[in-house]
Amino acid sequence: MLYIKDRMYIKNIELKNRLVLPPMETVSCGDDGEVTEDTLKYYDEITKSGYIGLVIVEHTYISPEGKVKNGQLSVADDRKIEGLKKLAQSIQANGSKAVLQLSHAGSNCLKDSKGSEPVGPSAVVNPRSKDGLMPRELTVEEIKDLVRKFADAAVRAKKAGFDGVEIHSAHGYLLNQFLSPLTNKRTDEYGKDLMGRIRIHMETIEAVNREVGLEYAVFLRLGASDYMEGGTTIEDSVIASREFAKIGVDAIDVTGGMCGFMGPQFTGQGYFSELSEKIKLAVYIPVILTGGITEPEAAEKFLRMKKADFIGVGRAILKDYDWPRKAMNQQ
Ligand SMILES: Cc1cc2nc3c(=O)[nH]c(=O)nc-3n(C[C@H](O)[C@H](O)[C@H](O)COP(=O)(O)O)c2cc1C
Repeated sequence: MLYIKDRMYIKNIELKNRLVLPPMETVSCGDDGEVTEDTLKYYDEITKSGYIGLVIVEHTYISPEGKVKNGQLSVADDRKIEGLKKLAQSIQANGSKAVLQLSHAGSNCLKDSKGSEPVGPSAVVNPRSKDGLMPRELTVEEIKDLVRKFADAAVRAKKAGFDGVEIHSAHGYLLNQFLSPLTNKRTDEYGKDLMGRIRIHMETIEAVNREVGLEYAVFLRLGASDYMEGGTTIEDSVIASREFAKIGVDAIDVTGGMCGFMGPQFTGQGYFSELSEKIKLAVYIPVILTGGITEPEAAEKFLRMKKADFIGVGRAILKDYDWPRKAMNQQ
């Protein structure tokens, strides 16, 4: 029987329990995406209780044109390493492991950021876009450059002392745009069929592993269903997850929703558990389930029912920083 208190490894990160603080943007960073005192204070306070096994730090842009909003965290150049080091250290000093989420917004990028224009796999308006701007289709050369930028960002995260990185492929951002048949209409090797739609993921995972070394933990946050007609399905995601695991991903962090993780259809606790259960059955690496969980008993239930190996709890912990202690001390 699995309990939330149980230890487990992800790659070579020893986690003291199964509780994960999922990535949640703080919008607390400087004009250039640097860590501020506010950023440090938030992460210190939320982890202070010492009961969170793993913190996945919020979406962090890998290059300026991939930024989604002001106040977002950056890992886009070496000058960010010192601030990120302080952030990783403060989380680790409170007894949690720290993973940094690496992100590029693609066609959802901030339109007024310097030199940025919405880009994506195809010239298709992102269903999540607020202004309905048409993105420009990326060239193959640009895709290869983005892969390199993910790898460079992972190297910086490692230098900053993070225990691992998470590649963001959910909630309508760039890699979700490639995976989704709604936004990827390419007819070259980066589109056409499922293997084409995950080629950028595969190349990114390979490049990251090559640069940070195989012993370093690499997670992938997967929007495992777009919940939209004609979008990514769980059947696609099961096949994709197997491929990701084969090529060197160490954990799949399951979420969903091309237009975000909130919506009228996402109700009850563990609303992505049908997705995580199917992925867990298909891969041998750990699977994280997040979404709607507010009670420690529900977290235990999903572990017991083998819906996931780890449970992410976001908004419930935001509301009550003492939630992790209560969860670990339940009978
Ligand atoms: C304020 C806030 C910010 C978020 N920022 C991110 C993010 O940076 N990256 C990401 O993948 N998900 C993000 N999410 C989604 C959460 O990681 C999580 O999947 C979602 O909140 C559902 O889990 P919950 O019901 O336990 O809160 C965010 C959620 C919230 C509430």
